[in-house]
Amino acid sequence: MERRVKGCASLRGEIAPPGDKSISHRAVILNSIAWGRAKLENFAPGDDCFATVSCLRALGVEIIKEHGVLTLSGVGREGFREPTDVLNARNSATTIRLLAGLLAAQPFLSIVTGDESLRSRPMGRLIHPLRLMGAEIWGRGGDSLPPLAIRGNQLKGIDYHLPVASAQLKSALLIAALFAQGETTIEEPAPSRDHTERLLRAMGAKLQCDGTRIALTPYTSLSPVDVCIPGDISSAAFWLVAGAIHPNARIKVLKAGVNPTRSGIIDVLLQMGAKLRVENERMDGGEPVADMVIESSDLVGTQIAGSLIPRLIDEIPLVALAGSFARGTTTIRDAQELRVKESDRIGATVRELSTLGADIDELPDGMIIHGGRKLEGGVCSSHRDHRLAMTLGIAGLVARGETVIHDAEAVAMSYPSFWQDLERLTIYGI
Ligand code: S3P
Repeated sequence: MERRVKGCASLRGEIAPPGDKSISHRAVILNSIAWGRAKLENFAPGDDCFATVSCLRALGVEIIKEHGVLTLSGVGREGFREPTDVLNARNSATTIRLLAGLLAAQPFLSIVTGDESLRSRPMGRLIHPLRLMGAEIWGRGGDSLPPLAIRGNQLKGIDYHLPVASAQLKSALLIAALFAQGETTIEEPAPSRDHTERLLRAMGAKLQCDGTRIALTPYTSLSPVDVCIPGDISSAAFWLVAGAIHPNARIKVLKAGVNPTRSGIIDVLLQMGAKLRVENERMDGGEPVADMVIESSDLVGTQIAGSLIPRLIDEIPLVALAGSFARGTTTIRDAQELRVKESDRIGATVRELSTLGADIDELPDGMIIHGGRKLEGGVCSSHRDHRLAMTLGIAGLVARGETVIHDAEAVAMSYPSFWQDLERLTIYGI
């Protein structure tokens, strides 16, 4: 599907972003391992989380969806059944990686695959530590790519230093560790999102976190927990950047998660001089949430690198867009992980924003954005990457001419109502 976006006179209104994708995956997987019923409100509506739901159903978990509320009956650690067919994680790396941690400990055979993009995503980083735990797990391409074949086994705890700050990898190992004999400790190079740790603690798991080190003692049983899932900061971020770079904007974002391991985009926008107010901070479902108001801002360029990167890993295409509208230069380093996301997000962001008129140099691990350029619009592609499709949609709102986005339906992975929300906030005439 192709989508056409025109520059608009003004952006105004309130927006409640869809439920958080990362928390939704974890809430449904961990409650499936618990024994008993759980209710998940504001479950993420995107295709990625429903890939997880389909796989869990194929493993024998009863899950009912009614008006954005998921009710499930956890089967307990021994209640999963062998799937009768290949499990399909579709476009979702969180699904395949977190489920691999679970399947590695089940007494049956599973094969997990995904779409063309997922089948090119690195799995060696997962296969290696799971094998150290005693898992029998294989992948295509010399054990580096999906599909994965897993014959479940009795696992043992390990001490492991993650080679990358990846919450998917950390979570997969924590899930496997629930079923292992002996303690597992995991050391991260930098803190990544900690939703798994928060939920596990709420469910009664024995978990100790000390900076970047986590120790988990295997459990006998997890208690189910009802979760009211906060709005996804990664979806809210599109409106925060839209409001900051549009010359006539005021947008209020309601009830978005502001977990410090995810809120790097707020810090960066403030660092760039954005007129952004974070209001009404509170705790909901074990996670900090807040409302935010963003207004048209005069941004200045900034530098981002190091431990900030995992805190805004999914928002980097948006930082590049914001940098194009800032005074001076914006530099992004240490973000080589973006090369192995749903697309090569460094190459694709540089190519597509440049097509629209931005001035960006590509680096192996990031980009240098020369700010102060007006975007002209043009014909561009999402590379079937949801976050790129939405970044280009926002770029279209601030470009002079028309922007045509190919493969715009990719937004459905995390934010199916994105194009409707964009229309709703947009005022074309003055
Ligand atoms: C996610 C972790 C990140 C992020 C992805 C969701 C998660 O990936 O990019 O969109 O839910 O754990 P990595 O773990 O590969 O960094």
